[in-house]
Amino acid sequence: VTEEPSEPAPPRRAPFAPIPAWAGPTTRLVHGARRPDWNAGALVPPIYQTSTFRYPAEFSESAARGGPYLYSRIDNPTVEIPTERLRQLEGAESARLFASGMGAITATVLSVVGSGDEVVTVGALYGGTTDLLADLARFGVRTRGVSSDDPTPPSELLAPATRLVLLESPSNPLMRVHDIAAWGDAADRAGAVLVVDNTFATPINQNPLALGADLVVHSATKYLGGHSDLLAGAVAGPERLVRRIDPKHALGAPLDPFAAFLLDRSLKTLALRVARQNESGRRVADALAAHPAVARVHYPGRAGPRDEAIAARQMRGRGGMVGLSLAGGAPAVDRFLRALSLVQVASSLGGVESLASVPAVTSHRNDPPAKRHALGIDDGFVRLSLGIEDPEDLVRDLTAALDAAGPASPAAPL
Ligand SMILES: Cc1ncc(COP(=O)(O)O)c(C=O)c1O
Repeated sequence: VTEEPSEPAPPRRAPFAPIPAWAGPTTRLVHGARRPDWNAGALVPPIYQTSTFRYPAEFSESAARGGPYLYSRIDNPTVEIPTERLRQLEGAESARLFASGMGAITATVLSVVGSGDEVVTVGALYGGTTDLLADLARFGVRTRGVSSDDPTPPSELLAPATRLVLLESPSNPLMRVHDIAAWGDAADRAGAVLVVDNTFATPINQNPLALGADLVVHSATKYLGGHSDLLAGAVAGPERLVRRIDPKHALGAPLDPFAAFLLDRSLKTLALRVARQNESGRRVADALAAHPAVARVHYPGRAGPRDEAIAARQMRGRGGMVGLSLAGGAPAVDRFLRALSLVQVASSLGGVESLASVPAVTSHRNDPPAKRHALGIDDGFVRLSLGIEDPEDLVRDLTAALDAAGPASPAAPL
């Protein structure tokens, strides 16, 4: 009897090549997720655009766990690469990527809370997150909001039923900063989980896990993707918590291999982009504050001495998001947006092009006006996401649009 030559076992997934402990964040972004796979010598790994993988017949699914790839909802080599880059960047034990930021946030929240639990939110949140929490009331999950200005120490604001504390820092769209260390400590004592949405800061400017958060989430659609051409979400933290959020179990919303390829390409330049955006943020915030058409500037640390102290403590850079309230209200907003020539009017943020958006008609459109006003989002509010253009060009474009919007030109056509 001649024996059939048995097919060689498929290579088990290769570990990532070690990178020296002294490598800095930018070096890690470039070299931190290298694998020894030969892949025809390609410097850039290919896109494994496949839903499934071949494996020897004798491997049952359970026997193969941790071995060959099986199915792209569970695992895909292209998706693993930006996952590893982000894991290192957030200083996490484990990370997972999702099809969108809301996919990551929904899976994270559902992995923590159950019927009878309370969620505490700190300050304003992205409208989609607020909507999700409101919807969870149907399943017996209650949400209680705490104001960014509440002087009570966080440890006195949590109740026995509090399972989850959720905050953004800086927050969308008011750029308020929240004390991650204090909230992390309070959550620990109360047996709750602190989840920080780090979308606006990015891991270049702030690492919530190092400050005391249990989990960090991102809309990777924003700065991590960086070019307004993909949707993605991420969560990172200790394996014991991240395991429960795995996209293969919760919601089935893993990242697609092609989006993962784009995300990985973008992550390599994240530190450079954010450095420029930090610089533009600072310069634009100063220029806006000096303009008579602007009633208020919203920028991390500017809301008062408490915000400034927290920002100085927990952020390495303040980011490229700036809010402004135009003294002339909604009519001035129309004139301002029409007069912009470089800055594009669009929702979303974090890309290379500067964008202006109006939260009242985008992220917070589902909030009734009274609630929006109570949050501090008045009718003259415009949110800017600064891109990587020359900072002086942004200042020039925005200043010219403010000149057109300001009280000095009330007769400008609407
Ligand atoms: C702070 C923040 N978190 C989460 C999200 C949701 O992310 P995605 O749009 O990728 O689902 C957004 C989107 O705008 C956001 O601004």
